[in-house]
Amino acid sequence: MRISVVGLGYLGAVHAASMASLGHDVVGVDVDAAKVESLRLGKSPFYEPGFDDLLAELQDSGRLTVSTDLASVAGCDVHFVCVGTPQSAGSLAADLRYVDTAFTEVVGHLAPGDVVVGKSTVPVGTAARLAEVVEAGAPGATLVWNPEFLREGHAVDDTLHPDRIVYGVPRGPAGERAVQVLDAVYAAPLADGTPRIVADYPTAELVKVAANSFLATKISFINAMAELCEVAGGDVTQLADAIGHDARIGRQFLNAGLGFGGGCLPKDIRAFMARADELGAGEAVAFLGEVDRINNRRRERMVELAAEVLGGAVRGARVALLGAAFKPDSDDVRDSPALDVAVRLSDAGADVIVADPQAVEPARSRAPQLTYTRDVDEALAGAELVLLLTEWREYRELDPVAVGEVVARRQVLDGRNALDRAAWEAAGWTYRSLGRA
Ligand code: UGA
Repeated sequence: MRISVVGLGYLGAVHAASMASLGHDVVGVDVDAAKVESLRLGKSPFYEPGFDDLLAELQDSGRLTVSTDLASVAGCDVHFVCVGTPQSAGSLAADLRYVDTAFTEVVGHLAPGDVVVGKSTVPVGTAARLAEVVEAGAPGATLVWNPEFLREGHAVDDTLHPDRIVYGVPRGPAGERAVQVLDAVYAAPLADGTPRIVADYPTAELVKVAANSFLATKISFINAMAELCEVAGGDVTQLADAIGHDARIGRQFLNAGLGFGGGCLPKDIRAFMARADELGAGEAVAFLGEVDRINNRRRERMVELAAEVLGGAVRGARVALLGAAFKPDSDDVRDSPALDVAVRLSDAGADVIVADPQAVEPARSRAPQLTYTRDVDEALAGAELVLLLTEWREYRELDPVAVGEVVARRQVLDGRNALDRAAWEAAGWTYRSLGRA
């Protein structure tokens, strides 16, 4: 099929390349010329495992072209809109200006029979509104809402092998035809047996925010248990293992620690609360406010714990922070718990050095006042306190004996419950973590 993808961020760029790898002819469009140039040269503009290999495979195929000119979507049959919906400045609501602009512009290039597909995470009701924009500007074209569930760090695999595919379609023949068109786009994952759910627009929009709200709630639930373990003298890791054996609960997303960040979970639960309020159903999701507060308290607790271990002498203390990205295998620092803790400690006067294998430059542009290095040994040298904030594999696998030789004091705070506590203690370290006595 001939496919266009508008918006080439973490979602759109991977979607465009993945669709090309499935055999479709894809044109990707973004306003950011540097991003487009990077993709044109077959280089990912961000760190995402496996994505450079996918781009390299496509380089000679001619099936993926990229452009800054939105007019190049003309002639495609299916148009995916993958632009961002960040949190609005000064409110909890999603900022829909990029979605609105993308739709207004794409509509001008549609032909009758085209299918335009929203993938961005939007407040419920947006698709119905945009369907009117499509109907008015491009009679005979159909809007589908097709939320995306990929995780950063696993984006290529999640796109090629999704665990479910959801279409929100209008009733009647136009919707039925749109389902057939999207089935042809996703023929490969559907042939693999991927479940496909065909719903109305509001359900499809709600599926996405419900999924992210559930995941955020699961993380904050275990972090609330961590708070209890801290005051009662329990061990949240053992607690998570024990409740996780119950198949109804499950062990995934029960890793207690610094909590969730990134460009999705935090802003999605806030936008959901804002939208529910507008619909007069704010009470139904008021608990998400508590989920958000539990999450933010973990960052505060981490800073308090650092001060405690330093005996209150934060000012001037050399602190090595391992991790800046919001999670491992990503260079994304949007609402990163790690970077937040780094800024708070630096504001409190600590002599902070932040290490990250991939996220140094994105972190530097968000928090230029901090000192950064890609080299973990440089960060560790002379540290009075080491904080593990993002559990990159190379940090989880550090040898506590060797690290003990280069630091000034053997004190470690495990913000992700990711280190082998017994091994660190055996090597003479004072080990503290969130949720474990
Ligand atoms: C999340 C969802 O998992 C995806 O399904 C969704 O498509 C995506 O948002 C989106 O809306 O685009 P992502 O933001 O890439 O994906 O990251 P997650 O893997 O969900 O992790 C989010 C945060 O939770 C990270 O900061 C991570 O460190 C934290 N986390 C995760 C925990 O603190 N504990 C856990 O047990 C799991």
